[in-house]
Amino acid sequence: MTASPVKTASPVPVEFIDLGAQHYRIGDKVEAAVRRVLAHGKYIMGPEVKTLEDQMSRFAGVKHTITCASGTDALSLPLMALGIGPGDAVFVPTFTFAATAEVVALVGATPVFVDVEAGSFNMDVKSLERALDAVPKGLTPKGIIPVDLFGQPADYDAIDRLAKARGLWVMADAAQSFGATLGNRRTGSMGRVAGTSFFPAKPLGCYGDGGAIFTDDDGLAEIMRSLRVHGQGSDKYDNVRIGMNGRLDTIQAAVLIEKLAIFEDEIAARQRVGQRYNDLLRGRVRVPEVGANATSVWAQYTLRLPKRDAVAAALKAQGIPTAIYYPRPLHQQTAYRNFPVAPGGCPVSEKLSAEVLSLPMHPYLDTATQDRIVAAVKAAVA
Ligand SMILES: Cc1ncc(COP(=O)(O)O)c(C=O)c1O
Repeated sequence: MTASPVKTASPVPVEFIDLGAQHYRIGDKVEAAVRRVLAHGKYIMGPEVKTLEDQMSRFAGVKHTITCASGTDALSLPLMALGIGPGDAVFVPTFTFAATAEVVALVGATPVFVDVEAGSFNMDVKSLERALDAVPKGLTPKGIIPVDLFGQPADYDAIDRLAKARGLWVMADAAQSFGATLGNRRTGSMGRVAGTSFFPAKPLGCYGDGGAIFTDDDGLAEIMRSLRVHGQGSDKYDNVRIGMNGRLDTIQAAVLIEKLAIFEDEIAARQRVGQRYNDLLRGRVRVPEVGANATSVWAQYTLRLPKRDAVAAALKAQGIPTAIYYPRPLHQQTAYRNFPVAPGGCPVSEKLSAEVLSLPMHPYLDTATQDRIVAAVKAAVA
């Protein structure tokens, strides 16, 4: 007779982002909304697209919302509409997702990499100023793309001042920050134009790819609406400019309408979870800093840990997933390493890439699970 193996209870796995909990809450409504689209059959630019755009304009406090097929398109379409191309320099943080710089290179312009601040993870205005003072020969500075990393708006007051003094536009990469505020303004209303992403894991995500552009500029909005549909003019077969197919599917718009209806409540829950992490972890590890004038929607809750890999391994052993956003700044990546970098380099971004670790973060994270995560972090750093 062989002895039966000893069973050890493995810890209940924690979700990094619990989309299932959200679907459990609104699944019936989402499924009914999708069935309505199946019934009317207007899968492309159906009525839900316009309804969503109107609702989002009201939510963000802007004149125009133009939905599109992804957050990447939400950055590409404005650059195309602004006529950005070869010989133009656009200033971007290096500590971000690739799409921020990719869209600049895709239109033939040159991304110039700028460092970020260690506390907020957002664009460092002093590094930006150094980059603006040292534009490489042959390039004309045109615009700045601040990123609202991990859900907190960049320092738009300082960046706008600098942009105005130098005659540049500002386009906000609000892919991670839809719903956050700076003073009494919501993301979407900062910069001349802003783009967000509805990638499922984003604070407001759909059930596939999607994005939206926000602006108060009537002329720019009209051009972007045309670019979104192959540069369409007065009708479908009158193309007045080179555009793309950048439309948001009607089914995704229908899903987003249902998600937007609970978004205020989810933002409040995100802020409770983010604040509670900060209260419980401050003093033991370096917690993220939110500016006095700002709120974050906590797309990620990100710590700085000198022994990050050991902490990640200890948490993994307890069924707690973590993620590294971002393990390498863009200026050190193969596709981007030949583009210009701000004088003095980007030492803060390089250090952050070696230290950052994001913990599970979503509006449905209950206090017992959060306590378990916090205890695991404290034990790992002790
Ligand atoms: C900062 C940032 N910019 C742009 C994007 C691109 O969005 P999408 O994945 O919807 O194209 C993302 C998405 O991950 C992002 O995090």
